[in-house]
Amino acid sequence: MTYHSAPLTIAFVDSGIGGIPYMTHALRHIPDIRGVYLADNGFFPYGIREPEELSERLVSIVRKLREQSDPAMVVLACNTASVVALSELRSRFPIPFVGTVPAIKPAALHSRRRRIGVMATEQTLKDPYLDSLIADYAADAEITRVPATGLIEGIEHRFFDDMDGDLLESIGAQFDRADSDTVVLGCTHFIHLEHAMRAKWGSRFRVIDSREGITRQIFRLMNNLPADSYPRLPELPEHEAPVAGRAMMLISSAEGLDYYRRIADHFSFSFGGILDV
Ligand code: DGL
Repeated sequence: MTYHSAPLTIAFVDSGIGGIPYMTHALRHIPDIRGVYLADNGFFPYGIREPEELSERLVSIVRKLREQSDPAMVVLACNTASVVALSELRSRFPIPFVGTVPAIKPAALHSRRRRIGVMATEQTLKDPYLDSLIADYAADAEITRVPATGLIEGIEHRFFDDMDGDLLESIGAQFDRADSDTVVLGCTHFIHLEHAMRAKWGSRFRVIDSREGITRQIFRLMNNLPADSYPRLPELPEHEAPVAGRAMMLISSAEGLDYYRRIADHFSFSFGGILDV
């Protein structure tokens, strides 16, 4: 891929609002891109789908997104979609894809007690891809897997409400019992709970996600840098890298249209309406 001086369009896809923090992170650290975000609310939640149907759905989405906005690259800002469909998408389309996978590698670097918790969808937790990440980077660690589907549903549909902290408390208790010192957010939705987690869990665990790794991978692909390079990303303060005017949000179903328009507003994205998948 060659480096473009004009803003490059990058598409971000998730079952809902989970991938938004990934797009805002990339926009804040890479000034010369614009983002198109698809919340596939018509197919939410991905975590309960059969792998084949999810893969087919993502193929249709990418086809439509290419017609609609011709992105130079697609980021699957969703762990479930990435473990299930990344290789299929790469074989079907002549553009680069960036996948999101649970940040086991950085967690393994940080965990002193060698006890790591992973919160994700059931689909991600049972996927062989997670096992191979663990075998490659954290073979000596004890891994506690916690499916947190109820939490994902709450984040997606009640974003503006105060969250019921009981679920977070009971998840924290499971990690405590396992003596985990590091927790991997293996579903992109959980990043929206960063503050709530800090409030509930204090400093009991180091909480890790994969935003930085994804932004760095976008930057590498844009600049033809080798996969093992570690490019420094500009550290732009929020006001110097505004998201407004550089990001659009689409949804795939009219259900909850006003709610999603409000979400787009909240993050200073323009709202592009429905992508007919
Ligand atoms: N945000 C998605 C992920 O990272 C999952 C949410 C869903 O089940 O739809 O896995």
